[in-house]
Amino acid sequence: MLRLILTTVWLLLPAYTPNNFAVIFGGGTPIDLGRKFIDGKRILGDGKTIRGFIFGVLGGLFVAHIQLVIERFANLSFFSSLEYHTFLVLSFSLSFGALFGDSFGSFIKRRFGVERGASFPLLDQLSFIVFALLFASRINDFWKLYSNEVIITGFILTPLLHLATNFIAYRLGIKKVPW
Ligand code: CTP
Ligand code: MG
Repeated sequence: MLRLILTTVWLLLPAYTPNNFAVIFGGGTPIDLGRKFIDGKRILGDGKTIRGFIFGVLGGLFVAHIQLVIERFANLSFFSSLEYHTFLVLSFSLSFGALFGDSFGSFIKRRFGVERGASFPLLDQLSFIVFALLFASRINDFWKLYSNEVIITGFILTPLLHLATNFIAYRLGIKKVPW
């Protein structure tokens, strides 16, 4: 059980981390260039920026490479069992997919009239992981690493991890609300 949870987190880390890099390095020109959709509302909103997207993808790739190095030292065989080219395509798919899903989530939020930054439970926590896995699953070797068990665990674990990290951030005084 614990092993499955740790394996799942490890395999999903290149999808979990891009948004954190976007938060840190984001800002500037929004992806939608300030334009509105046919409903008169912003396409994505000011929370999705070009810089955040690019640095987010690079951040995810960076984390995946750190993991590759850790695996070599710790004698683990997940990402390091792949050919380097496959590993690159996989980690790019996971981090690009995560940010694509994050933007897709914002698109849906805007259509429902949910303001930038306001929460939309489950969509906020799951859209990034759905697209990360969707993109990554195009790679043949994906199914060797990501079993159905890992994917199901990921879907259950991701919203719970969000709640837990937000609660810790709240207790540490980083966030004003515990959700
Ligand atoms: N961010 C960014 N570019 C991205 C994604 C995120 O610059 N592609 C930065 C923005 O400063 C954003 C912050 O990270 O405000 C937090 O990201 P997120 O919670 O995804 O955006 P929200 O501001 O909550 O906007 P939305 O309601 O559209 O999700
Ligand atoms: Mg948000």
